[in-house]
Amino acid sequence: MNAVELVEVGPRDGLQNEKSLIPTEAKIRLIDSLSEAGFGLIEATSFVSPKWVPQLADAAEVMAGITRHPDSDYIVLIPNQRGLAGALAAEVDEVAVFGAATEGFSQHNINCSVRESLDRFRPVVAEALAASIRVRGYISVVVHCPYEGTVAPESVLTLAEDLLAMGCYEISLGDTTGQGTKDTICTLLDLLCAHLPGDKLAGHFHDTNHQAIANVKHALGYGLKRFDSAIGGLGGCPYAPGAKGNVNTLALHDALEQVGWQTGLNRDKLISAEQVG
Ligand code: HMG
Ligand code: MG
Repeated sequence: MNAVELVEVGPRDGLQNEKSLIPTEAKIRLIDSLSEAGFGLIEATSFVSPKWVPQLADAAEVMAGITRHPDSDYIVLIPNQRGLAGALAAEVDEVAVFGAATEGFSQHNINCSVRESLDRFRPVVAEALAASIRVRGYISVVVHCPYEGTVAPESVLTLAEDLLAMGCYEISLGDTTGQGTKDTICTLLDLLCAHLPGDKLAGHFHDTNHQAIANVKHALGYGLKRFDSAIGGLGGCPYAPGAKGNVNTLALHDALEQVGWQTGLNRDKLISAEQVG
């Protein structure tokens, strides 16, 4: 079987960018409906500063309110020690640290340099691993940065190596602004896959220019088998002006199954979850 895994990021990446505050109950219903659809990993929320992302200030309440499905793991974003403490108290299954390939995006998103972010993540990752919590690593702006323009693939490789060395099990490659093209995604993956195994890499492609599904297909050609997507195509980053949602989960599921890949997801339940969202 040609298996490919979709990681559902709608409740976090999707909702963080919504301007009006969404009731906690609605977030819980959305996550519960996604759990029913068969995802192995659902990004439920973030334990970040509520001053920076007010929408996700209810992270602890969301995690306490969801019904944990035995086949789903729940992951949250954490930027620092305080985020990890919240995540551990909420009994998450995994955490994700999030860095950026450019200084401009790092400063705007987490208020520190790339080097400072790595110094901050290192003890956080060590503490998570000591608590038997797996850690995923994100790299934002892998091909294009809203503050610096074109991104050198070498800076993505260096950061990916640093995050893997500190113990992240996988690097999710964020095309944050959705400007990736066949050329830029393939140039990036040419370099990364010459140095890193494809199973250490995942794709996280925003769909600003409607190239996300095509970019997933290019990435499959490099051996990547895990892709982030958001129900209803929700999403965006408050610190990436103009960026649109993540690739739509249902559309990606359909596009992949049409060309012979199996996601293991229940399509009817994806439609139900889309209606909840
Ligand atoms: P800072 O202002 O430099 O840090 O922010 P600080 O330590 O001075 O903290 C500021 C205030 O926040 C303090 O409160 C802290 O206690 C509090 P005050 O004393 O003023 O009352 N605080 C926290 N509260 C709760 N949980 C925490 C936490 N940390 C501090 N964990 C900081 C630095 C990193 C905290 C901030 O910049 C931040 O939270 N940034 C997060 C931004 C974010 O979530 N962006 C979106 C996610 S990334 C993304 O979407 C990209 C991705 O999808 C991939 C892609 O598409 O590329 C992953
Ligand atoms: Mg994103």
